[in-house]
Amino acid sequence: MKIGRIIGFAITGLCFGVLVQGEPIEFEIGQTATQEDIQGWNIDVTPNGDGLPNGQGSVDEGAKVYAAKCAGCHGPTGVEGPYNRLVGGQGSLGTDRPHKTVGSYWPYATTLFDYIFRAMPLTAPQSLSANKVYALVAWILYRNDIIDENMVLDRFTLPTIHMPNRHGFQISPHMGISLPTSP
Ligand code: HEC
Repeated sequence: MKIGRIIGFAITGLCFGVLVQGEPIEFEIGQTATQEDIQGWNIDVTPNGDGLPNGQGSVDEGAKVYAAKCAGCHGPTGVEGPYNRLVGGQGSLGTDRPHKTVGSYWPYATTLFDYIFRAMPLTAPQSLSANKVYALVAWILYRNDIIDENMVLDRFTLPTIHMPNRHGFQISPHMGISLPTSP
């Protein structure tokens, strides 16, 4: 115990000494991230669609991927759960029983791509290709009566979609930011 403490003090002293002298500390672990490494994490998509990758997906393809990868948690039609409801609820937000879903609540279709690409399926995030995510977004929007069943989504068409609750949010003027200009 005592020896442990002494060694502990000695190590702390050494580190402190190095810091005081202003020398860079070399831990000799890890490696410098390459542009490719960084690119793998740089996947954010903004409301106006900046950052959307190449690729495309249709409602039909989305139905298949959804059944295989999502239905178990969100229900066969996106309504049943057990986890978050993705479909329906439009017009319910102002009532006693509001249902916050993609269709009723989300202000942008573009950030739905971001969310799924980044975080779903819950047990295997970032395992889906861009094509599959475009298809899933198409299926979820179609089920919410937001797009036509023949619409194909890609980085050009997705930012043109107007979400029902697009104007249901207000940004505090004190935050000093303005709302992005998308439909
Ligand atoms: C193992 C269960 C599970 C699977 C599989 C799963 N999800 Fe989820 N999903 C969740 C949970 C739990 C949340 C809520 C996460 C939170 O609030 O932090 C969620 C949240 C979401 C949301 C946000 C809902 C909202 O309005 O807040 C979307 C969209 C979504 N999932 C889409 C998908 C899609 C698409 C798939 C298939 C690729 C999928 N999920 C697969 C469990 C799952």
